[in-house]
Amino acid sequence: MNKTIVITGGAGFIGSHVIRRFVKNYPDYQIINLDSLTYAGNLNNIEDVSKSSNYKFVKGDITDRDFIFRFIADTQPDGVIHLAAESHVDRSIRNPVAFLTTNILGTVHLMDALREIWKEPTDKRFYHISTDEVYGSLGKEGYFTESTAYDPKSPYSASKASSDHFVRSYFNTFGLPIVISNCSNNYGPNQFPEKLIPLMINNIRHNKPLPVYGKGENIRDWLYVEDHASAIDLIFHKGKTGETYNIGGENEWKNIDLVNFLCQLMDKKLGRNSGDSEKLITYVTDRAGHDLRYAIEAEKLRDELGWRPSLQFEEGLEKTVDWYLSNDDWLEAVTSGDYQNYYQEYYK
Ligand code: NAD
Ligand code: DAU
Repeated sequence: MNKTIVITGGAGFIGSHVIRRFVKNYPDYQIINLDSLTYAGNLNNIEDVSKSSNYKFVKGDITDRDFIFRFIADTQPDGVIHLAAESHVDRSIRNPVAFLTTNILGTVHLMDALREIWKEPTDKRFYHISTDEVYGSLGKEGYFTESTAYDPKSPYSASKASSDHFVRSYFNTFGLPIVISNCSNNYGPNQFPEKLIPLMINNIRHNKPLPVYGKGENIRDWLYVEDHASAIDLIFHKGKTGETYNIGGENEWKNIDLVNFLCQLMDKKLGRNSGDSEKLITYVTDRAGHDLRYAIEAEKLRDELGWRPSLQFEEGLEKTVDWYLSNDDWLEAVTSGDYQNYYQEYYK
């Protein structure tokens, strides 16, 4: 093994795709998945690689400072790819403190522990995975670039913005070798059905109302999760220390257009009459402080590192729908129990 890489949050949606990619593509790396298994963490997401000789799972909480110091000292990682986070905007509106604790404090604990062991950190790397939501909301025109001023609007994005600032401050103040990326909305297999696309897929499947916030006119820039994982791989290995890279799909969709498109696709897949699923669309009270539009300019990543998304949205969405329809057990397991309480509370 020539390198030990810790990936935090590897049982979550994006983390599980990053784990799979690294375990398979880098047999010489020892990959350690550190995850506390919150409601969003699910070891079934990475069952296929769980027996690989270069993979190990450690259950642990990044908000537990003593544990993190012990874990980092024992593990002596050469690199950390940090994805563990509270990630859902609606939950952050109900419970901001959990976002502050995990997303800000957890990130700082990790970096403090790394400072203890990386005395000469020339070939080390702390890679912080962040979001385009730190830039706030766009109007109808323009794009977020790496130099757009931070203007977070939700407790979730405020916590991610704060953690980004801490990460940069540790580079400037302590010379911690960091890199950051800010990505647009991901979709694909294994996404917890609190997020728009899997929630709609699950509800269409059960003929339940499709809750569209406000008038459905908000716009998001969607990227297939494996394309995000390929960008993370590239930035981890080739990105410049201290730099930030934006990652996006150049694929903007108004929510209502996306939901309509998904309805048509699922009508075909489920053998329903065209238009059946669209009848389930229900406009509901808007999200508080709902950002109108996100759109990423990923020129830096494209020009400096040669990254391009590999999938067209239509193809990626079809793969996603097929995955959910053929992984009934996964969906049933994550939507039983607590999910029902969550759904009642948020959509009552
Ligand atoms: P997710 O909610 O699916 O997974 C988060 C994972 O982190 C889970 O496995 C969970 O168990 C783990 N975790 C949470 N708190 C923890 C703690 N205290 N200690 C250890 N582990 C903990 O999230 P995701 O959608 O996969 O997002 C991963 C990262 O990517 C986050 O940092 C998020 O801000 C960022 N991001 C997400 C998107 C997106 O569209 N989902 C886009 C851009 C950036
Ligand atoms: O932009 C990157 C961000 O994308 C990530 O940092 C976040 O972790 C991720 O959750 C996502 O945030 P959004 O708030 O954009 O994603 P979400 O899937 O929650 O919502 C997408 C859009 O759909 C948003 O405009 C709100 C709307 N929506 C969402 C849900 C869950 C609905 O209209 N109805 C719904 O039931």
